[in-house]
Amino acid sequence: MKLQIHLGVGLDGEAVTWEPNGNVQLAITGQSGQGKSYKLCDMMLQLSTQGVHTIVLDGSGEFGPDASGKPAAWPPRGTRFLDISSPELPVGTFFPWAMPSGKMESMEQCARRAAGTLKQLFHLGGNQYSYLKKVCASCLADSQELSFSWITESLTETTQSAQPAGECTPEESTEVKLAVSLLPKLDVLSDFPDTNPHWFQPFATPGTTVIDIQDVLDPYLLKTILEILLGNLWTQKVRSHTGCPLVLVFDECQDLNFKSGSILDRILRKGRKYEIAGWFSTQWFKDEAMTKALGQTAADIFFRPALRDCKKTASLLAPNDRELYEACLEALDSLRPGQFFFYDREEPILVDGWERKD
Ligand SMILES: Nc1ncnc2c1ncn2[C@@H]1O[C@H](COP(=O)(O)OP(=O)(O)OP(=O)(O)O)[C@@H](O)[C@H]1O
Ligand SMILES: [Mg+2]
Repeated sequence: MKLQIHLGVGLDGEAVTWEPNGNVQLAITGQSGQGKSYKLCDMMLQLSTQGVHTIVLDGSGEFGPDASGKPAAWPPRGTRFLDISSPELPVGTFFPWAMPSGKMESMEQCARRAAGTLKQLFHLGGNQYSYLKKVCASCLADSQELSFSWITESLTETTQSAQPAGECTPEESTEVKLAVSLLPKLDVLSDFPDTNPHWFQPFATPGTTVIDIQDVLDPYLLKTILEILLGNLWTQKVRSHTGCPLVLVFDECQDLNFKSGSILDRILRKGRKYEIAGWFSTQWFKDEAMTKALGQTAADIFFRPALRDCKKTASLLAPNDRELYEACLEALDSLRPGQFFFYDREEPILVDGWERKD
């Protein structure tokens, strides 16, 4: 993936342009109100003319069609605005995934992953998990996919076909009890319908998609469905050898799953190979996993950090140079909104990206 992104002007008054070749992963950090979301919009506008499909997960409404305080040209032409519960998105369906080696998951592995995902989300007990795994495997054996609605239907059928006590085997009666205990827990998944079978087509051609995730208030549910969405997107992209490059934009990404083995970790480590990149913006690093994962990006944009983060940021910008460290520390503390350090592992560049809106 080759891109050309104009960032702003440097101290010398010259235009600063980021021209990543291959590794396009980016992290943006800085305090509230410094211009992270504005910069992302500006950069996404530029991507929209460079043969890429960009998807932004919008957790704050900052990327909506009528969002205020955005670059004048926002949104990019032809942008699709979707809600996370739209059937245009592969959220309500477990498809077999491409594993890190590129090999596809078997049906058993997919059923196990699906049941494991629901186990974690709903804190299921061992018996509930084993039963759900069996239900998932039998749904998958009937078709090549496994949707939330199929699982719920299958459990409902089991409860409805229950024989009067004394007329069913102990095993059947246990299954009915488990199905009855699972159904109310799974009810929340009915918000996410079966996926339209042609969902990937628009993502294989250049364009912009804004996905509104504001209404999923439960952070565990949000993490789960985003993992399903991203895993399904990853799989289609890895398997389709013709589609355009994909840039996934995560604004306010601090609540996402960056653990080793997560899809975000996979995008950061292996995305380059399949032309999938992530742009991540956050006010702070939540934990070690996030710091480690985002340490793998090709470039960083540092807006003015919170006071306690100034020294940490300066030592990232100047790891082995005391004089440069002191200069960066002083500069970081005096950055105004729209100004930032751009750092792609060469000398850090101080950029002013403030735009006059007239
Ligand atoms: N480069 C810029 N040019 C012109 N105006 C800007 C620029 N950057 C930011 N702004 C203005 O500053 C406001 C705050 O910026 P923005 O919303 O991007 O901050 P943020 O870092 O995303 O904050 P938060 O972390 O709270 O979401 C914007 O609404 C916009 O009006
Ligand atoms: Mg913001």
